[in-house]
Amino acid sequence: MPKVAVIKSIHPSAIKLLKNNSKFEFEVIEDFSKENLIKKLPSFDAVTLKTAKLDNEIINNCKKLKIISRHGVGFDNVDINAVKTNNITLTITTNSNATAVSEHVMFMILNISKGINVYDKIVREGQFLDRNKIDKSFELWNKKILIVGFGRVGKSLISKCQAFGMKVYVYDPFIDKKIIENFKGTKIDDLNEFLKETDYISIHAPLNEETKNLINISNLRTMKKSSIIINTSRGGIVNEKDLNEALNKGLIHGAGLDVFEKEPPDKNNPLLKNKRILFSPHSATFTNECMERMGVETVENIFDFFEKKLDKSKIVKL
Ligand SMILES: NC(=O)c1ccc[n+]([C@@H]2O[C@H](COP(=O)([O-])OP(=O)(O)OC[C@H]3O[C@@H](n4cnc5c(N)ncnc54)[C@H](O)[C@@H]3O)[C@@H](O)[C@H]2O)c1
Repeated sequence: MPKVAVIKSIHPSAIKLLKNNSKFEFEVIEDFSKENLIKKLPSFDAVTLKTAKLDNEIINNCKKLKIISRHGVGFDNVDINAVKTNNITLTITTNSNATAVSEHVMFMILNISKGINVYDKIVREGQFLDRNKIDKSFELWNKKILIVGFGRVGKSLISKCQAFGMKVYVYDPFIDKKIIENFKGTKIDDLNEFLKETDYISIHAPLNEETKNLINISNLRTMKKSSIIINTSRGGIVNEKDLNEALNKGLIHGAGLDVFEKEPPDKNNPLLKNKRILFSPHSATFTNECMERMGVETVENIFDFFEKKLDKSKIVKL
């Protein structure tokens, strides 16, 4: 009978699925220190994985391991070479995250555009009439937004932007123009040219050699002073130091960040003092609904793998 290690507990609905399936045994492992994982994991056939790190040494030590089922879509915490060498299947929860992330992007866009944190503060502090001294807020209607990366999240975001009357442009060299047009978006070929005219930019591409520092001081300098950048994808795609400089110099209006170059960011990171940035702690998927979907999909991917009916789209191509 396959043994499943649940590395750090997942949603109760997912645990219930495991309890109710007599074809599998499972154990929840809360201590995900390297020493403990090296000691515990060799007897397991499958693992569910949240943010614990599975490095080369841990994976090479797991001779029975056949599947790593990631709770999420990123897999930067897994040593890919070790996964390949040991012929392990790595799956992700492709159906669970996009709605929560795209809603989070809309929340950040609206929050920053409407300056709601400042308005809320002056009302609480009895400074109601200071409303006249504060920069006016922005409407979304008729504004241009550039979505960088048109995968699951980008596709989920487009209709939400359109519902607010925004004109949506997409930069994704790997997606055909026709697909973008089917979503009533416009494909952009030259990112830097378009940055000069867009009002908003939202990042949904993976972090890799091509996307690292994609947004940097040279293109930030060309953007509209009223523009707003949202990054819920991966830290490092927007260069943090350059973003801070651009905001401090008034080159752009604001930014929303759910992700950081280093997580958690250092307490003395100057970015954290910047009032023009709205932060969240890599929590775009932390809705009750999304956590339940991710947990259930993580477990179902393991069941499907052993029952030989795993959808290929769930497997990370290595
Ligand atoms: N904040 C969070 O909690 C959270 C949650 C889910 C996903 N994410 C991250 O968001 C990103 C997008 O997730 P997804 O599920 O939509 O991924 P996805 O794989 O479905 O889509 C990524 C898209 O990026 C495109 N792309 C690749 N290289 C590019 C480049 N150089 N320029 C422009 N586009 C490029 C791909 O063609 C693809 O269409 C990932 O990095 C993921 O890790 C973050």
